[in-house]
Amino acid sequence: MKVQPSKTSAGTVASEEKSQLATYKKMPIVAERGEGVWLYSDDGQKYLDLYGGHAVAGTGHSHPHVVAAIVEQADKLLFYSNLVHSEVRARAAEKLVSIAPQPLTKVFFCNSGTEANENAMRMARLASGRENVITFSGGFHGRTADAISATFLGKYRELGKPNVPGHLQAEFGDIESVRKVADETVAAIMLEPIQSMAGVRTARPEFFSELRKVCDSLGIALIYDEVQTGVGRTGEWFFAGSEAGGGIVPDVISLAKALGSGIPVGACLVSEKIAAHIKENDLGTTFGGGMIAMAAVNATLEAIENDSMLENVKEVEAHLRNRIGEIAQVTQVRGLGFLLGLEFAGQTAPIHKGLLERNVITGTSSDPNVLRLLPPLCLRASDIDLFVDELKAVIANLGSQREA
Ligand SMILES: Cc1ncc(COP(=O)(O)O)c(C=O)c1O
Repeated sequence: MKVQPSKTSAGTVASEEKSQLATYKKMPIVAERGEGVWLYSDDGQKYLDLYGGHAVAGTGHSHPHVVAAIVEQADKLLFYSNLVHSEVRARAAEKLVSIAPQPLTKVFFCNSGTEANENAMRMARLASGRENVITFSGGFHGRTADAISATFLGKYRELGKPNVPGHLQAEFGDIESVRKVADETVAAIMLEPIQSMAGVRTARPEFFSELRKVCDSLGIALIYDEVQTGVGRTGEWFFAGSEAGGGIVPDVISLAKALGSGIPVGACLVSEKIAAHIKENDLGTTFGGGMIAMAAVNATLEAIENDSMLENVKEVEAHLRNRIGEIAQVTQVRGLGFLLGLEFAGQTAPIHKGLLERNVITGTSSDPNVLRLLPPLCLRASDIDLFVDELKAVIANLGSQREA
């Protein structure tokens, strides 16, 4: 979409276009501030944000508890590396482990989703002494060398050429395809339990229990990339252990995005079985576990609890599914909690654009017929009502344009 800058934002858009690599298809918004589910642009427009800055604004934009914790920590100590102990880091690690499903008892902090996945794969290789990793068609795991080599979605893997060797592909949801490539050379099977970018693709609970069996019988580590599904997005802290996933718990969960409410932070939650093989200096990072990021993690998890956001996600998801039933053009609502894909009979690009023109931000996906919703976990039923009204108006407009 061509950016149409307003008068006040024209200078910012021109400046970014002049100085920043043109690697993003940007919306015509110059973001100035945010509050909860609302994003405000510098020309005074207010947007209902159902995209959450790519699933990052889990607690909503600039949640006051998170902001206060960051400011307080910034005043004390911005950063020191992992070579010292830190109370704020100890609290974050303990809290994360306490909400993780058993037997995930250890955490390793890093800075992003791709880094969490790289470390997850490395741990599985170190623990097993094997090299191969199985990932799935439609999965997205990041853009650094090993993670992009594990990404069998669209053009991404090509962009990462030459790829890291040892990456094998199976079909998401198809356990037979896994059995064909799984053997005693495989260190890990890694998957997004709900494939977000691919158009919010889900699998049956039995798929996850079958995967667990394959892993257990061959000594393979199971890794869930919960960069999107983690930290409350599905209405549970994690997809791992949930009913939708057959109660199955992997050996490693990778996290990022909503974990710091916008402060960059990633993490791997790890079972004792894997952790026992990881020695001093096997993994490392300068910034991971820094004090500001840890303050953000603590406050994010507290805000989710204090504001009963997990319960809210479930309630508001039910309301959304109910109200979307009024729109005949939506053929299916895919996903879980606040990771939802609205499947239309035709292409969603005009709907996405029409909604944006009516101040509602949604996400596209690699499936042209699926509109993605990744809103803050504090989204209310009244926001859904507004969204449904706007969606109906957009669809009516597109219909009348077609007739004209
Ligand atoms: C499922 C999943 N894994 C990994 C990543 C990579 O995360 P990051 O961009 O923080 O490196 C993403 C990013 O969109 C993602 O959606």
